Amino acid sequence: MNDRITRREFVRTSAAALSVSALSTPAVARRRGGDTLRVGLIGCGGRGTGAANQALKADDGVVIYALADMFPDRLERCRKGLAKHPAADRVQVPASRCYVGFDAYRQLIDADVDVVLLATPPHFRPAHLDAAVRAGKHVFCEKPMAVDAPGARSIYRSAAEAQRRGLSLVSGFCWRYSMPERATYEKIHAGAIGDIRAMHVTYHTGPIGTQPRRPEWTDMEWQLRNWHHFTWISGDHIVEQACHSIDKINWAMNGVMPVRATAMGGRGVRQGPESGNSYDHFAVIYEYDDGARCFVTCRQQPKCSNDNSDYIFGADGRCFVNGWAPRHEIEGAQPWRYPSDGPRPNMYQVEHDELFASIRNGTPINDGEWMTNSTMMALLGRMAAYTGKTITWDEAMNSTEDLTPSRYDMGEIPVPPIAKPGTTPFT
Ligand SMILES: NC(=O)c1ccc[n+]([C@@H]2O[C@H](COP(=O)([O-])OP(=O)(O)OC[C@H]3O[C@@H](n4cnc5c(N)ncnc54)[C@H](O)[C@@H]3O)[C@@H](O)[C@H]2O)c1
Repeated sequence: MNDRITRREFVRTSAAALSVSALSTPAVARRRGGDTLRVGLIGCGGRGTGAANQALKADDGVVIYALADMFPDRLERCRKGLAKHPAADRVQVPASRCYVGFDAYRQLIDADVDVVLLATPPHFRPAHLDAAVRAGKHVFCEKPMAVDAPGARSIYRSAAEAQRRGLSLVSGFCWRYSMPERATYEKIHAGAIGDIRAMHVTYHTGPIGTQPRRPEWTDMEWQLRNWHHFTWISGDHIVEQACHSIDKINWAMNGVMPVRATAMGGRGVRQGPESGNSYDHFAVIYEYDDGARCFVTCRQQPKCSNDNSDYIFGADGRCFVNGWAPRHEIEGAQPWRYPSDGPRPNMYQVEHDELFASIRNGTPINDGEWMTNSTMMALLGRMAAYTGKTITWDEAMNSTEDLTPSRYDMGEIPVPPIAKPGTTPFT
């Protein structure tokens, strides 16, 4: 299958799809007895369990109807956790609707659910989103969307198909659902700091925990249980974690993509087999057509100074964003600060509130284009760091590097080598 697609083509496809869906009736979720919306969760770990909780809270008609995970212990932990929810009577997941293994997602999608929450490690997202959209499900889709360009191209196609079918597709880039961030980026788009000349985003944090190998685990099970550290499953931490900050570059630049990226990275302290083949630090320079430059630095190293902020430099002022501190502030010609008493609802809850409201109202949300562009920007940064080469946006979009393993089973799977800048080829 020819899966090459440019962003311009995606925009064209979506615009055509939009005009079709504008003419036809959107796929509003079926209203079952009462107002029930059946929700299936694929990937029952920390985030997936959180998303299921938020879905229950978002809409009184939500029933958690089916669960799917790779491993029975993870699924059971989630099922027990959901049983403690104040709305536990709406957690209706008998053993017959609990699915495990590589094909669990298909069984869940076939289980007559209306909405699917995708919260596995990102390697699986393109296949899961494709199956969910083809089956006509509304989707909450955790970030990042893919670990390689073929996966991202698949997501662009699924997003266009969701739009054509009038399905909601809400992304897990949660800062887009945070009120102080929304107010801040709105100000920037309205010109509060003038044209953006440069932006620096940081994701400087500690390491993600590892799972020591147990004798009974095969290679595949061990890698899946240590998924953050294997590039084929996580995309590496610039894609898996710092994508949140890269998404905010995309947001500030109002959807304009960089023309090229140059990057560096490596592992300074990360070691041991359970660290897989991921790096522990990256620095990326994104260059734009108009001369703007945006930078991301990210690291996962212990006992270092941490920071997770956005520093935006415009022609007429500067903006500082830190969602955790919190700080949302503009200095310069039009000084501004997000009011201390401004609304700060939980952004993870807002994602689900808006998703379910959109389904109820028949006004689908489609985050598809920007969520995939942000993922592609992170992939471009990783490609540039791993190879040591300056890579253009178009080259990255058309990359044929496919991280899919030779087979999906719980057997042997060698640990891929750690990328060596200057030696690792770009493909
Ligand atoms: N938006 C945010 O702030 C945020 C926060 C945390 C995680 N995340 C994202 O959510 C996703 C999940 O992260 P997590 O922290 O919950 O990880 P986790 O390890 O806690 O959970 C992942 C679950 O998916 C299961 N799984 C793996 N492969 C599967 C497959 N093919 N089919 C079905 N189940 C499978 C695992 O067994 C595990 O239970 C990741 O993409 C991560 O980047 C987002």
